[in-house]
Order: sequence, then C-alpha cells, then structure tokens
Amino acid sequence: MAENTPKSLHLSGTNVAIIMDGNGRWAKKNTLNVTSGHERGVEVVRSIVEASARNHLESLSLYAFSTENWSRPKKEILGIKKLIISAIDAQVPDLIEQKVSLQFFGDYYSFGSEVVNAIFEAEAATTFSKPALQLNIALGYGGRADISQALRSIGEGIASKKIDCTDISDDLIFQHLKAPIKELDLLIRTGGDHRISNFLLYHLAYTEIQFLETLWPDFTEDEFTKCLIDFQKTERRFGKRTI
Ligand code: IPE
Ligand code: IPE
Ligand code: MG
Repeated sequence: MAENTPKSLHLSGTNVAIIMDGNGRWAKKNTLNVTSGHERGVEVVRSIVEASARNHLESLSLYAFSTENWSRPKKEILGIKKLIISAIDAQVPDLIEQKVSLQFFGDYYSFGSEVVNAIFEAEAATTFSKPALQLNIALGYGGRADISQALRSIGEGIASKKIDCTDISDDLIFQHLKAPIKELDLLIRTGGDHRISNFLLYHLAYTEIQFLETLWPDFTEDEFTKCLIDFQKTERRFGKRTI
C-alpha cells in the first residue's frame, strides 16, 4: 500500500456490491481446475470482508452465483456447493468475532438441504443488533427474477386489497424485493468485462460503477482500498446542477 494511504477510511452509510468475476480464467492461467479458482476466490472474500469492516462500510453485497450459473457443468456446481459449506464452516467464527451479520439472498434452495441448513445456522449465529458490517451474499440470484417475484407479491397484495395501486412507490418496490439492501453506492466488477450480468438491477439506478481488469482471485485489499478512495473522490450529482 502506498505510504500516504490511510489505514482505514470512514465510509459509514456506504453500501458496496461486488461482481466477483474471473475465477475460471485465473484457474486456467495457473493450469488449475476451475474449482481451485473458486477456492482461491473464497479466500479473497475473507480479506475483502475484513477490509470492509475496517473501513466502516455499512454493507457489502457479493455476487457469488447467478440464476444463469445453473447452466454450468454439474461438476463445477457440485464443487461450488461443497465450497459454500466449507466456507461457512471456516469463516463464520471470524464473522462472529468481527460482529459481521451475514445474510444470503436468491434461490439457494436449489443447492439442497445441506446448504440451506448451513445458511440458516450461519445467519442465526451472526445476528447482531448493531453489526460492524452487513454482509449479503447473492446465491442463485437474478435481478430479473427478483423483480418478477416483487411484482407477483405486489399483485397479490392488490388482489387481496392489502395494497392500493396508488401505494406503489420506489419504497414499496424495495420492500418487496428479496435483496436485503436499498440504494447501492458503489459496484465493483473484477474480471475485465463491462456488464451487470443480471445483478441488482433495480438497486443500480444511481450507483457508481468501477470495472477492473484484475481477476477476482488476484484482487487485493490494497486494490479494494484504492477503489474506495476513488469512490470518495467522485462527485455524485443525482441529476442536480452543481456548477
Ligand atoms: C465468477 O468467476 C464466479 C462465478 C460465476 C461462480 P467465473 O467462474 O465466472 O470466472 P470466469 O469468468 O470464467 O473467469
Ligand atoms: C457474474 O459472472 C456472476 C457472478 C460473479 C456470480 P458470470 O461469469 O456468470 O457472468 P457472465 O457470464 O460473464 O456475464
Ligand atoms: Mg465469469
């Protein structure tokens, strides 16, 4: 880290999301199998969560597995399933110590009961009234699927007369989305591609976006800190005239 880089930034109230892309290419580059790439990716998650808590972020939302990723080879999905369980086992004690609240969102039920039980236990063990960080993991998540289910839920509310059409607002829509966040301040995508890949579509309306060439397993705390410093320097105008 450069000598003048502060040890910790004060980013309270800041909500960051990351599309952690590049595990497969990292594995190929290092002549390893794809599961080894995902394993290395999980270790990077650990260090970025620690850095997020140290820099006082409000929340960190990580894209771990998309609805489209279900079309990957069975062997890769099985490797990811095992990795979810071992990562929860290995990392939850540290999350408890750091007072990090963990929450999963998406259709992770399709990974089976072993994963679902591990998730429920991890969430229960990391429930804090004043967490140091809210850590959200998108697993089997798709932005479009989330919007569809929110519309179904609002539609049912209207049919049962619990919701009036005139009640529909940004706030009400956020309440019906399953992703446990509202506005996102910063989205980082590693791996060199410049796309959203069906992540938090409704939440990204005014998010700052940084696309990095670095493959996720090569992403470091220093590079993350640089992203946060660049974000702090950005003037966010929200459509206003400021000059
Ligand atoms: C991201 O890395 C992790 C998941 C989508 C599960 P990839 O596995 O997509 O890595 P690349 O894009 O093939 O390098
Ligand atoms: C996005 O990466 C999803 C996750 C990081 C979980 P992908 O590798 O699945 O996205 P595409 O296929 O490049 O758009
Ligand atoms: Mg990818």
